[in-house]
Amino acid sequence: MLFALIGDPVERSLSPAMYNAAFRELGLDCVYVAFRVQRGMLADAMAGIRAFGVAGLNVTHPHKVSILQLLDKLDRSASQVGAVNTVKNDEGKLIGYNTDGVGAIRALKQEVGKLKDRRVVLVGAGGAARAIAFKLVEAGAKLVVANRTVERAQKLAEDIKANRGVFVGTVGLKPSALEPVISKAEILINATSVGMYPDVKKTVVTAKMLHPGLLVNDIVYQPMSTRLLREAEKVGARTLGGLEMLIQQGAASFEILTGKKAPIEIMRKAAERELRKRGEMP
Ligand code: ATR
Repeated sequence: MLFALIGDPVERSLSPAMYNAAFRELGLDCVYVAFRVQRGMLADAMAGIRAFGVAGLNVTHPHKVSILQLLDKLDRSASQVGAVNTVKNDEGKLIGYNTDGVGAIRALKQEVGKLKDRRVVLVGAGGAARAIAFKLVEAGAKLVVANRTVERAQKLAEDIKANRGVFVGTVGLKPSALEPVISKAEILINATSVGMYPDVKKTVVTAKMLHPGLLVNDIVYQPMSTRLLREAEKVGARTLGGLEMLIQQGAASFEILTGKKAPIEIMRKAAERELRKRGEMP
């Protein structure tokens, strides 16, 4: 069986290494490849996926939203978020899922235990942030969404209110507005791509706004040590990089696509080996 990643770029993806290691471990006669699919080529690519009978997909930038209209069915994890990162080919029917949220929650829970009643500031309101926000609310966290375009944060809050009946606060990124919110929080998550290679000097928040009682989680994992995480270290806050979320969402997708329990330790080791090979991990 053939599994694939579609996106652009895909060259730096760790998914082929993680999946192929997992297939070997479980003795599955499967292979996972990455296809670079440019923005205007998605419909053609999906016709190919159907024609070749590709068994399952991971979907990354820039197709996570535009793929919705090319699928036959959406799982709630994808429909409420409005973005898809996993597609299962169920006997010719393409079903969209989103595992970004569950990946983030599992990584966070390993650090802090339960999330119920934890005060969380989530920076971002794009696809990744929306997936994480819904899962945080389901886990009982008290959430404030901070986004550069505050209207987009408000739209996310409205969608959560409508779907889950839960109130979510919203704020912009202006320090005067954001600082008081962070000062009361226990967890800060960057769910934007700010700070990602090659713009590694960027950060959504600097040390001035952070405090030692925080866990600072960056979903960016390239580089592993982002500027945001270094700013957090400066004030003695705990940090959590983006690699564990990636591994957890990969494992969750693997289970949807294969119906088998993911050998997560094998997947983690494969991702780390790949990063070391590239000199991105000590
Ligand atoms: P994704 O699906 O990867 O989350 P996206 O939908 O393009 O991508 O969302 C990108 C997120 O990063 C948004 O929250 C965006 O803020 P806006 O809604 O204001 O655009 C945020 N973002 C991108 N560049 C940013 C920057 N330089 N400063 C602050 N936020 C930024």
